[in-house]
Amino acid sequence: MALEAQTKSIVAQFDYTDEDVNKGVKEFLRQMGEGLEKDGTSMSQIPTYVTAVPNGTEKGLYMAVDLGGTNFRVCSIQLNGDTTFNLTYTKVAIPKELMVAKTAQQLFAFLAKQIELFLRTHHEEHFEAHVRRRLTVSSPDGYMDENVFRLGFTFSFPVQQSGINKGTLIRWTKGFDIPDAIGKDVCALLQIEIDRLHLPVRVAALVNDTVGTLMARSYTSPGKTGAVLGAIFGTGTNGAYIEKLENLKKPLTGEYDKSTGDMVINTEWGSFDNQLNVLPNTSWDIQLDKSSVNPGIQMYEKRVSGMFLGEILRLALLDLLKDPKVSFFKDENSSSNDWKSTTNIAEDSSIYTEWGIDTAIMSVAAADNTPELSVLRQELESTLHIHSPAHDDAEAFKAIAGAVARRAARLAAVAIAAVVLQTGQLSASNDEPVDIGVDGSLVEHYPYFREMIYEALRIIDGVGEEGAKRIRIGVAKDGSGVGAALIALVAAGMEKSTTT
Ligand code: GLC
Repeated sequence: MALEAQTKSIVAQFDYTDEDVNKGVKEFLRQMGEGLEKDGTSMSQIPTYVTAVPNGTEKGLYMAVDLGGTNFRVCSIQLNGDTTFNLTYTKVAIPKELMVAKTAQQLFAFLAKQIELFLRTHHEEHFEAHVRRRLTVSSPDGYMDENVFRLGFTFSFPVQQSGINKGTLIRWTKGFDIPDAIGKDVCALLQIEIDRLHLPVRVAALVNDTVGTLMARSYTSPGKTGAVLGAIFGTGTNGAYIEKLENLKKPLTGEYDKSTGDMVINTEWGSFDNQLNVLPNTSWDIQLDKSSVNPGIQMYEKRVSGMFLGEILRLALLDLLKDPKVSFFKDENSSSNDWKSTTNIAEDSSIYTEWGIDTAIMSVAAADNTPELSVLRQELESTLHIHSPAHDDAEAFKAIAGAVARRAARLAAVAIAAVVLQTGQLSASNDEPVDIGVDGSLVEHYPYFREMIYEALRIIDGVGEEGAKRIRIGVAKDGSGVGAALIALVAAGMEKSTTT
């Protein structure tokens, strides 16, 4: 009984009521507006210099690389011009020590090396042709060499952009911490290492993964207007949307095409409400923030995205395990005074290690609807080394994990609704869908994440049942790679128009 009562009380702390959701949307809109007016705000609202979305007819062969979470991906993309594409890619886990390397050069040299390996494996002809030409033709402008790949660099961290392929790193997020890189142009850092290896590659565009997702969604499912928002709910969370130039009050330093009247804005909503005006803040959120590499920032991200949900859950579970009045994963035969030895959890279990619970187990918990919770119990045994977990304990685990995820999904709805309201698309007097491209492990793998978002959207003032029906949230698979290629294409066009 004690377990049931304690579980209920923990679950209740993750309640995020309809009223909270509506308050959240209002504050989100306020902070978006603030970010459009000046620099240095909590939500950065970064102008991307991308002024239009594709319509599905774009064509060509491009490269894209993607640095932003656990893996580094290198791909080449053939855009077929008929809303389809072919993508070849490799992915490699980023060594943990490079995420906190001493110098930026160490990380970027590793990235360039991966590009070389990819080219040698998948585009040897290109490579050879370039090397031959380089040896025989001394071209004053190597960049215009046809054998040079235009590369879209998806770099999913907050960057102050000053042009389509220029931008300085504002801060690291998601566990990366290389102070040496702050303030440096990340495209230049990559190009230097590419040149050191004499690769036939020019970094043509700098792209946030959310911008890539927005572009990819517009390419693959073109509607009358294209997608209005690209959002990531994965290791981190963020969104990029189309804003009217007239609303963008802060000065822009680079050149851009003004003819569309729009510009894609990278909101960096992971840092929405770092001040905690409206964000929920349980004791576990506080603990997590304290032990993160960036206390006080990315406060919204720390409540919503995959990198953090497992840790919130872990901290809540530990409180329950330590409580002598509650029987939770207990070893009934133990009479020890040390709380760890009273459990039936192996000493080496990652439940005892910071960041030790992978959010993936929350998806398993949510998906297991068997009466005995047999799938989850097996998973608890194999991944967390809990011996023969009892049904009631697994049920408590599922309830708490579900509460953490549900709060995340409702917070996700806050961001989505606020952006949709900001674009004014819902008040347009037609019934065209308002299209949103999403990507990331949470939307892809967490069961019912989208359903929980919709449930919250329906109760938001200004959206309601009707509005929620019009909002179409579709997964843009491989979005950041395709999107980066599309922006490299736009950039290549700009390059031509300035050189001819
Ligand atoms: C973090 C980064 C942001 C990125 C997001 C999703 O919030 O700061 O740039 O888009 O993660 O990967």
